[in-house]
Amino acid sequence: MTHYFTDNWENVQNFQARPDDILIATYPKAGTTWVSQILDLLYFGQTCPERHNNIPIYERVPFLEIAIPSLDLGYQSVISLWLCYHVTCFPYQRFPYSMFTPHAGKDLADKLPTTPRLIKTHFPVQFVPKSFWEQNCRIVYVARNAKDNMVSFFHFDRMIAIQPEAGEWNNYFHRFLEGQMVFGSWYDHVNGWWKKKQNYSNIHYMFYEDMIEDTEREIDKLCSFLGLSRSAEEKKMISGGVQFDKMKKNEMANYSTLPVMDFKISPFMRKGKVGDWKNHFTVAQNEVFDEDYKKKMKDPTLQFRTEI
Ligand code: PPS
Repeated sequence: MTHYFTDNWENVQNFQARPDDILIATYPKAGTTWVSQILDLLYFGQTCPERHNNIPIYERVPFLEIAIPSLDLGYQSVISLWLCYHVTCFPYQRFPYSMFTPHAGKDLADKLPTTPRLIKTHFPVQFVPKSFWEQNCRIVYVARNAKDNMVSFFHFDRMIAIQPEAGEWNNYFHRFLEGQMVFGSWYDHVNGWWKKKQNYSNIHYMFYEDMIEDTEREIDKLCSFLGLSRSAEEKKMISGGVQFDKMKKNEMANYSTLPVMDFKISPFMRKGKVGDWKNHFTVAQNEVFDEDYKKKMKDPTLQFRTEI
């Protein structure tokens, strides 16, 4: 982990979750933003449609463990969110406040005025603040097959300023296999959360590949898990609105407003596909990967699809 995710460690670990909080947990690049947007629309799409046109996803769904010293995302969003929540159809403006430094996802989460609060984390299961378990919060975990996850992460690390340089692809490939990544090993992450699901029933474990295959079906499953009744029409509308091309164009969902990313190198909404790994893995790398995968992924109940 880099200091951006450890600087606020004590505060993050002491975060006070509420019973109705919803935690969106993922290994980076597994579909966090996609599911965040879906959940935000499911909960607030009808009551506060303006928020989707005016507040970036990283403010609607704070990233719990992040702490960036020089960004001022905080009060501006808290005020906008508060107005949205309490003054229905408030004509949106971004407020010219810039007094909230450092930016800590935990502080933003603390101040979220919505119910429920949607909160994002990339923590492996053992680092989740204990209040989430104590409060029996619902957790949506999204997993993506390791090959595509690695490729997506590689391009992300190339373009983001706050993570170690991606370097050259072959080297990155080996680092990923060894688990030398910002949030540790993909293998430990997906397995750790999968195991947790066996004794904590409030985890909904989803797969990126399933969402690509049938977004509406996955929204249905989410609604069942969350106890939400939404009309077929609304679910269809949400599903249509969160397709890759739509989200790629949506400035409030595509991260184009965040200054730490250089889209000239690679956009955040890059390809949004299953199987892009085939354009990156050499035959030899694929063999090494598959051999190593067999050793690390022993649980037959956890299966990923690398193509659909
Ligand atoms: S992060 O930084 O960890 O929050 O990134 P995350 O949102 O988890 O993952 C980014 C990848 O998800 C893809 N994405 C989508 N794919 C399909 N449909 C939709 N709507 C969608 N939204 C985001 C995004 O393009 C990244 O994957 P790659 O393979 O790099 O394109």
